Amino acid sequence: MLRPTTDIEQAAHALVSGQLVAFPTETVYGLGADATNPAAVARIYSVKGRPLNHPLIVHIASSALLSSWAKDIPEYALKLADSFWPGPMTLILRRTQLAKDFITGSQDSVGVRVPSHPIAQELLKRFTELGGLGVAAPSANQFGRVSTTSAAAVMEDLSSLMQDADVILEGEDSDIGIESTIIDCTGNLPVILRPGAITASMIRQVTGLEAEEGTSTIRVSGSMEKHYSPIAKVVLDVQALPGDGLIALSDVETPKGAVRLCEPSSTEEYAAMLYSSLRLADQLKLKRVVAISPVGEGLAAAIRNRLAKASAE
Ligand code: TXA
Ligand code: MG
Repeated sequence: MLRPTTDIEQAAHALVSGQLVAFPTETVYGLGADATNPAAVARIYSVKGRPLNHPLIVHIASSALLSSWAKDIPEYALKLADSFWPGPMTLILRRTQLAKDFITGSQDSVGVRVPSHPIAQELLKRFTELGGLGVAAPSANQFGRVSTTSAAAVMEDLSSLMQDADVILEGEDSDIGIESTIIDCTGNLPVILRPGAITASMIRQVTGLEAEEGTSTIRVSGSMEKHYSPIAKVVLDVQALPGDGLIALSDVETPKGAVRLCEPSSTEEYAAMLYSSLRLADQLKLKRVVAISPVGEGLAAAIRNRLAKASAE
């Protein structure tokens, strides 16, 4: 069975030869393939069990490669790219010829992101030196399940489905812990399709524009009701009973008999620990997890968005 490695050179060559590479990013781990290779991208879908019409994010080493994938980029999107890349933000833009239907789900737009995680950066730089243009990568988890934030979680979810020549790159755990903010930049105003660490107020500061929320009709699998779910049933904002798992900020006490899954002391820590805590609940074979929602805007709202999906019936 596949073992995690730290060999970025091997991983870059694996991408060039059409293999899959799972790699750490600052948000969650990605399951990558050469975004110009239809057969390699098709394997992402089969390994994940993901419906074929769901578009993928193209990861690039730097904004220098943006014009290969996207055109007619509005001024405000360039400002966002300048300010927040490399980082936890995906821009949806008009596609060029390079972004084929098998990447975009046959839409006229493409999702692009420059991740900041040092291993993701190194991998993408090396891949670019070898002639690569972009790495298509959804989160490295089985479709509909909780995203992965460590190489160990990727092993658990996907290693038995991957081939010997594929690679799982090991690195520091993802420090943000929830997926990138997705901003649709195909209209006159930015539209947040998926909230994340780049918030509406940060978008306002940089562009002077008020981002709308989620009114786009574009297909986003992250916007499906049931998503990001562990096997355990997740319920929100109720008292945890004996035997329940509990996810809550550290100022919330653990009721007698409940199993504390994490005690984050800030919203940032909450996001970073959320997915590994949901996975821990399944490892412990808990039937039910109680999560106490963080209050506030920005990242707290992004966490509540993921909790709502994890708890959807
Ligand atoms: O943080 C992240 O974004 C992680 C890391 C690996 O970069 N990736 C990630 O990918 O979360 P995925 O495939 O699990 O979620 C990407 C979302 C999907 O819901 C997909 O539908 C949406 O991005 N997306 C991609 N291209 C799109 C497009 N052209 N229009 C609308 N939505 C798009
Ligand atoms: Mg995903």
